[in-house]
Amino acid sequence: MSDARDLQTTTTNTMGRGNWATSIGFILAATGSAIGLGNIWKFPYITGDYGGGAFVLVYLVCVLVVGLPLMLAELIIGRRTQQNPVGAFQKLHREGSPWQLVGWLGVASGFVILSYYSVVAGWALAYIFKAIAGFQGTAEAIQSEFGELVTSPGQSIFYHTIFMAICIGIVIGGIKRGIERWSKILMPALFAILLGLACYGLFSTEGGSKALAFLFKPDFSKLGAEGVLSALGHAFFTLSLGMGAMITYGSYMKRGSNLVRDAITISFLDTVVALVAGIAIFSMVFHFGMEPGQSVGLIFKTLPVLFKDIGPWISVPFFVLLTFAAVTSGISLLEVVVSYFVDRRGWSRIAATLVLGAGIYVLGIFSAVSAWSVPFSGKGFFDFFDDFSTNYMLPIGGLFTCLFIAWVMKDKDRADEFGSRGPLYKGLRFLLRYITPVAVLAVIVHQLGIVEKCFWLFIRLFVFFLNYAG
Ligand code: TRP
Repeated sequence: MSDARDLQTTTTNTMGRGNWATSIGFILAATGSAIGLGNIWKFPYITGDYGGGAFVLVYLVCVLVVGLPLMLAELIIGRRTQQNPVGAFQKLHREGSPWQLVGWLGVASGFVILSYYSVVAGWALAYIFKAIAGFQGTAEAIQSEFGELVTSPGQSIFYHTIFMAICIGIVIGGIKRGIERWSKILMPALFAILLGLACYGLFSTEGGSKALAFLFKPDFSKLGAEGVLSALGHAFFTLSLGMGAMITYGSYMKRGSNLVRDAITISFLDTVVALVAGIAIFSMVFHFGMEPGQSVGLIFKTLPVLFKDIGPWISVPFFVLLTFAAVTSGISLLEVVVSYFVDRRGWSRIAATLVLGAGIYVLGIFSAVSAWSVPFSGKGFFDFFDDFSTNYMLPIGGLFTCLFIAWVMKDKDRADEFGSRGPLYKGLRFLLRYITPVAVLAVIVHQLGIVEKCFWLFIRLFVFFLNYAG
């Protein structure tokens, strides 16, 4: 039973788990979680694949209709309960409630996502050293370096090890002295580097205006249903939603700050960084007359070819930026897993971080060795983990989080954290009840191919009915 008094008592029981020292510290840490490889590596290349402006437009709508409400929902659940995702659902419903499975799914997602995320982050790290050494030789030679890195287990595992060690080191430091302190250093550095790169792209290359037109002039011909669904899926990933990362970060907040304002700030900064990264990258791509639709290789294969002419003073900051962004996201993924074992199992932070970090590291080795594939699937571990977590685990987690806050959580718990019961609150509740879950369900159903199957079933039934009626 979770009346306000119970919540209060348990809140005091969880005092020792740490808090953000400042509200700007929280904003930077949460923004750091959101801004990551998703913004700088994934967003530009999927935008390129789906033809630019139209995709950006749909993506912005998805952030507003699905991302922002869900971000607020997670922060509300977290701050209300002051608990990790598993504990949070139990506290708001009841001990042993089946809703805790949503929290469990989140902890599992954190484990899986960080395992392969760390491998990509390791590539970013490796490219800092490549950039310092300078990219040389023909375009083919530069592009093939990426293939060599990915297919060399020794190198991939080496950089994966360093990246995991960095995340573990920061998370051991705790909320204030680890995550908050490092976010306060890394995030401003990231903004500064990005701004520098975008100014370079806009003003020193000839590609600036083409990049702006590409990103902001909608051309719907390449979008399609596939593009719309990718935009929605990406809104999840880039805002760190669907696995309790924002529940966990929200749980370290003290009462008093305005959650609506915080959620808007985080989503806004995340979106701006993705767009600015897009401007910087496409300006260079168009300046050299390359194609925008380069898929996964856009950053690791196309850009280095351009960097050969531009020089290390742009390429080194670029990969440093990418690595910083990955670090502040990696620590949020690890923190979700660690917080569960600290809150619910009574482990010490150091032990939990070391043991779970090591577990994630070992799982990551499967993704780092590109020659290994998942039995019977024909897919490498890397693609398998990426597809499975982004396309299924996050949307399912997000869907149930949304249903929980909209239909199960008590109005009082919800409205108290929201801060009012005015039209804004009613609007949010309406979105979370009827619009957001339907949109998320559409993605899941599409992933499973259910729509097509149901469509044909429907047609058959219809024909059968016509025959029967006739
Ligand atoms: N949002 C990060 C990015 O864009 C990745 C990330 C960090 C994440 N924590 C998450 C994604 C939690 C989903 C859930 O790179």
